[in-house]
Amino acid sequence: MLKILRAADYADMSRKAANLISAQIILKPDCVLGLATGSSPLGIYKKLIEWNAKGDLDFSAVRTVNLDEYLGLPKCSDQSYYYFMHSNLFDHVNLPAGATNLPNGRASNMADECARYDALIERLGGVDLQLLGIGHDGHIGFNEPCGEFPKGTHIVELAEETIEANKRFFASKEDVPRKAITMGIGTIMAARKVVLVASGVDKAEIVKKAFFGPITPEVPASILQLHPNAVVVADEAALSLV
Ligand code: F6R
Repeated sequence: MLKILRAADYADMSRKAANLISAQIILKPDCVLGLATGSSPLGIYKKLIEWNAKGDLDFSAVRTVNLDEYLGLPKCSDQSYYYFMHSNLFDHVNLPAGATNLPNGRASNMADECARYDALIERLGGVDLQLLGIGHDGHIGFNEPCGEFPKGTHIVELAEETIEANKRFFASKEDVPRKAITMGIGTIMAARKVVLVASGVDKAEIVKKAFFGPITPEVPASILQLHPNAVVVADEAALSLV
């Protein structure tokens, strides 16, 4: 059953979600965390870094797998998700080298890269806790609205709305990559726990559609209504239409 956790604002949402991740790490120190980029998880990562520095949270046995990566950007590009994860989390906590994983958006054979990523997640024993944000069109990872729920890691054409939303991180809209590699909905649904965070009034409409509307691949996040252990941590603004 999908649980909705109400938070006052972005800071409260971040603290609550960070507490859920912290509980996961304390209960299973060698857990596999599925991680997301974007604006929504930034406050969570700040909290995790703070608690790690205080000695309250130990990442030494944790392994991570990220949801997605743009196609074609070199790792060193400050727009790559590799760069984002290193600068906003990995370089500031005691995660051992080699414990973090992202899909490679510059692999020479992308079909092989998709298969490699799925095999890697399977070898790690699956994801214990998957952290998600939600796109304005209902995407999770880069699973954009379409006629079906894709199962495994695959290549996607980014929706116009996603390119529009993500251009804020680039010099111009033309610089936003048109394609990405993303974990599939099947892998996300197989995570033993899912924590989705949503903040701000601009997410209110999609939060209502995804979690209080019909389950459809046209709103990919709506499938989380069927997840046995999913929590949506959303602030008052994001919940203002429900
Ligand atoms: C990021 C990701 C995306 C974002 C979503 C929301 O790795 O997979 O699904 O979570 O686009 O982005 P923000 O948090 O920037 O609103």
